[in-house]
Amino acid sequence: MSISIKTPDEVEKMRIAGCLAAEVLEMVGPHVEQGVTTDELDRICHDYIVNVQHAVPAPLNYRGFPKSICTSVNHQVCHGIPGNKRLKKGDIVNIDITVIKDGFHGDTSKMFFVGQPSILARRLCRVTQQALRTGIEIVRPGAQLGDIGYAIQSYVESQDCSVVREYCGHGIGREFHEDPQVLHYGSPGTGVVLQAGMCFTIEPMVNAGKRQVKLLPDGWTVVTKDRSLSAQYEHTVLVTEDGHDILTLRGEELAQVEAAS
Ligand code: MF3
Ligand code: CO
Ligand code: CO
Repeated sequence: MSISIKTPDEVEKMRIAGCLAAEVLEMVGPHVEQGVTTDELDRICHDYIVNVQHAVPAPLNYRGFPKSICTSVNHQVCHGIPGNKRLKKGDIVNIDITVIKDGFHGDTSKMFFVGQPSILARRLCRVTQQALRTGIEIVRPGAQLGDIGYAIQSYVESQDCSVVREYCGHGIGREFHEDPQVLHYGSPGTGVVLQAGMCFTIEPMVNAGKRQVKLLPDGWTVVTKDRSLSAQYEHTVLVTEDGHDILTLRGEELAQVEAAS
């Protein structure tokens, strides 16, 4: 498969899908509370995507995934399947939303806090969000994917955390997962050269302990081998003529992005 360059019409559709995915994260925030089950969060998001947004939750039945969102709690790294476990005070939870609108995908995730997590947990989330920002800052025509991976890996490791290697960001558009693979580690000056019109996700998974992970017998849930905490943030990004646009930006992030530019 080759890397699709979006036409102006397609970019417009990507913007809409990205906006909708971001809105789901904003909508679900107040529901992420002590005592709620991840199944209930799945139901709330599913109903909102289908009935309010008139969009499609991309994970549902994707390669057999049984739910409409992914919920990854504490030492779960990614692809957690919503279930009947209740969130408790001190938990950190990633909610990963992918919607399809008018044939195009928007994919984004963030960490939510239940009550007040430990200082370590909050620091891990801060480092992971900063890792995503550090990667996004690199995106412009002429930059290379290895530059992004290198920036993320160097920052994360400087903070004594580790980058998960088994899962990566991805091109996105008409398909959920398109070329290229966007690694969150690597060497500068290597890999695909970015061009205006490319769309891809950056979605670093960062562990407080060692980088190694294992897959649970459910075939989806990925956890840290050493049971250390793990965090992830994800945005869908468009390469523009003079840099990038974050297609899944939330209102709460606007001030930070403006301050950086
Ligand atoms: N949203 C995830 C990603 O960022 C993929 C989830 S696949 C699923 O690429 F099947 F688990 F939903
Ligand atoms: Co993704
Ligand atoms: Co995702």
